Amino acid sequence: MIKNDNQILVIFGASGDLTARKLIPAIYNLYKKDYLPEKYAIVGVGRTSYDDEEFRQKAVIENEHIKKEGDKSLEDFAKLIHYHSLDTSNKEDYKGLSDRLHSIDDDFGTNCNVIFYLSVPPSLYGVIPKHLAYAGLNEEKSGWTRLIIEKPFGYDLESAKELNKTLLEDYREDQIYRIDHYLGKETVQNLLVTRFSNSIFEPLWNRNYIHRVEITSAESVGVEKRGGYYDGSGALRDMVQNHLLQLIGLVAMEPPVKSDANSIRNEKLKVFQSLRPMTPEDVKNNVIRGQYTSSKIKGEEVKGYREEEGVDPESKTETFVALKFFIDNWRWSGVPFYIRSGKKLPTRVSEVVIHFKPNHHRLFSQSQKINSQNMLVLRIQPDEGVLLKFGMKVPGQGFDVKNVNMDFLYSDLTDAYVPDAYERLILDCMQGDATLYARGDSVEAAWEFIDPILKAWKEDSSIPIYGYPAGTWGPENVDDLIEGEHMMWRYPCKNLAEDGIFCEL
Ligand SMILES: NC(=O)c1ccc[n+]([C@@H]2O[C@H](COP(=O)([O-])OP(=O)(O)OC[C@H]3O[C@@H](n4cnc5c(N)ncnc54)[C@H](OP(=O)(O)O)[C@@H]3O)[C@@H](O)[C@H]2O)c1
Repeated sequence: MIKNDNQILVIFGASGDLTARKLIPAIYNLYKKDYLPEKYAIVGVGRTSYDDEEFRQKAVIENEHIKKEGDKSLEDFAKLIHYHSLDTSNKEDYKGLSDRLHSIDDDFGTNCNVIFYLSVPPSLYGVIPKHLAYAGLNEEKSGWTRLIIEKPFGYDLESAKELNKTLLEDYREDQIYRIDHYLGKETVQNLLVTRFSNSIFEPLWNRNYIHRVEITSAESVGVEKRGGYYDGSGALRDMVQNHLLQLIGLVAMEPPVKSDANSIRNEKLKVFQSLRPMTPEDVKNNVIRGQYTSSKIKGEEVKGYREEEGVDPESKTETFVALKFFIDNWRWSGVPFYIRSGKKLPTRVSEVVIHFKPNHHRLFSQSQKINSQNMLVLRIQPDEGVLLKFGMKVPGQGFDVKNVNMDFLYSDLTDAYVPDAYERLILDCMQGDATLYARGDSVEAAWEFIDPILKAWKEDSSIPIYGYPAGTWGPENVDDLIEGEHMMWRYPCKNLAEDGIFCEL
């Protein structure tokens, strides 16, 4: 186990949803597993006024997201937590924060090592670091200073560039940790291991053997109480620009020279730089956007997107997007990549599907059934695991071939603890490891690919936004995107090994 430096974690937005649901439970798990250094303190920051004791009660003792059963250490953990109230937008207030941190540093002996975690609305991602710098809190006199920035990083290419520029005025790139919680998932990291530690996959991982690559990220829920936020964002910004392009980076990259942060991030960047830019014509032909409409799911009436609270009744924000695109490099020339993501789909599932090319010569009578090629499915969530589909002889006369499954499920590793993504990412930042965080240049490269789509949608009112009944797999024409006769998306079920439009969800 790597020994962590003594340190303070400062959470801006400590009264918020993310802190309660994810951050404090993740740190508590690290505490229980002895990953925290000997001298450690957490300081919650925000405009809301609490004293230390009130905040400990709210953040830890009464936090319903912390699993308390059988843990005697909850009270001791709470003693690590403090609260400092300030007006985030007033730079003078940060001098008081500086005094408070120095005093906690003296009491706890944390060697002036500090992580500032910005769990606040995105409009503050530039403001808070600036004000920290005004109070000298960006300086590394005897320890280190790191910033964790939540998603979304920018609203488009221009705002992402502006934010990077603002941050880099006062911080070095290696101090900035742009979080993408997808990268903290074990199953996402396993993509690298599947590819680069097995000699059977990598030789096939190219245009000679792969017919197409498909990524699906489906949610069964709608916008719930976040209609106001979502209506200004949409599926392309909320899921594709960050999480799903990061997955593409890992699926498509060349083997890195080493397993360190820079080597892996350099290779991912090259993938983003090789994405073929979309012309307005490509956007019309290769991108489908949709919006869920009212329907009945399991006998219950469900609202359409435009009827949701906080959503403009004439909204053109997409709750579904599917796109086909190409990576113009040696390995992937001519191989179509597909991404599909949406809300109010039949089930919650995220997976990467590698479709292999059929044999050049069909020796045996294999059913012409759709999706009968070899397929490798890397399931991100739920029912996490890996599934390989291949042909087997049907017992009996002749040589009839049937597709069968070979699967591995993470749940079979009963003795292995699978950490939550935030747990892993916070621990990595504590140790100064940025491998699973997004680098500034790659965030900009991803926006460069997405921007023309947003622009075409904004400028060309003839591009349709299709309705799809809540609880279905998106607009009807979405299968038309897939190149080739009899080809369609895999329609995944909750269980990894099952698929089909009508399977039990
Ligand atoms: N919640 C999630 O599941 C989730 C998932 C991924 C990413 N994120 C990102 O993480 C960040 C935090 O999410 P959240 O859901 O915790 O947000 P939140 O509950 O809306 O806000 C977090 C805190 O920010 C402070 N705040 C809100 N509006 C402010 C304003 N105008 N000026 C100054 N401070 C303000 C508030 O604390 P005070 O009033 O005490 O200052 C609030 O408790 C967001 O950027 C979000 O996009 C959230």
